[in-house]
Amino acid sequence: MLSQDELKTLVGQAALQYVIPGEIVGVGTGSTVNKFIDALATMKDRIPGAVSSSEASTQRLQALGIQVFDANEVGELSVYIDGADEIDGRGHMIKGGGAALTREKIVAAQSRRFICIADESKRVEVLGRFPLPVEVIPMATQRLVRQFEALGGQARIRLKDGQPLVTDNGQHILDVTGLQIHEPLAFESEVNQWPGVVTVGVFAHQRAQVCLLGTASGVQTLRY
Ligand code: 5RP
Repeated sequence: MLSQDELKTLVGQAALQYVIPGEIVGVGTGSTVNKFIDALATMKDRIPGAVSSSEASTQRLQALGIQVFDANEVGELSVYIDGADEIDGRGHMIKGGGAALTREKIVAAQSRRFICIADESKRVEVLGRFPLPVEVIPMATQRLVRQFEALGGQARIRLKDGQPLVTDNGQHILDVTGLQIHEPLAFESEVNQWPGVVTVGVFAHQRAQVCLLGTASGVQTLRY
C-alpha cells in the first residue's frame, strides 16, 4: 500500500510527460507540486524555465536551478501543472489550501491546458467538503462573512501564528465550510463579483483538462 506522500511523488513524476521541451511551463503550489518541481529539475536543461504561482514555488524552482519568468514577460503557456484540494467528475476544483489561489488562477488562465496532479483522496462527487478558500480584501471581511452565511456557509478568517494569514498579495483568506457547490461555474461567477473578493477558490472557468490521479493501483489519467 503506497502512502499519500508516495502517491504525490508518482503523480508529480507522471506530470513530466506534459512538459514540452523548449517551452516555459506554468507551475502551481503545494506539496504535490513540490514533487513535480523536484522531477522537473531532471529536465531543466530542456526547458527555458517556469512561471510560478507563489513565492514558495519560486524559491523551490530557483533553488533547483530552474529559471522563473514573470507572467508579464511571456505569452500564453502551453501547460499549467498544479494540485487541488478537491476535484469533481468534470475537472472543476477547489484550490487555495496553500493560500496561493489568486496567482494559481492567473497562471492557469494564461495556459492552454491545466493538468491537475492529485492523490485519490481529492476526488469528490460534489465540491464543498474541503473548506472553500476565498482571498479577500481585509476591509470587506465581515460583510463577506455575512454574505456566505446567507448562502448557508460559515466563513472563518485563516490564521497563522494567531494572526490573520497574509497572502503573497498582501490580502487575507476566508475558509468557508457548509457549502455544497452543485453549479461550480455559476457559483464562481457570482462570488467573484462580490465587492472585496479577490479570488474565490472554485476553479470552474479554469478547470482541469486532465487529472493524473494517484491511486492504490497506480496513476490514472482522467480526461474532461
Ligand atoms: C495551494 C493549492 C494546492 O494546489 C492545494 O492546496 C493542494 O495542495 P497539496 O498538493 O499540498 O495537497 O491550491 O493554494
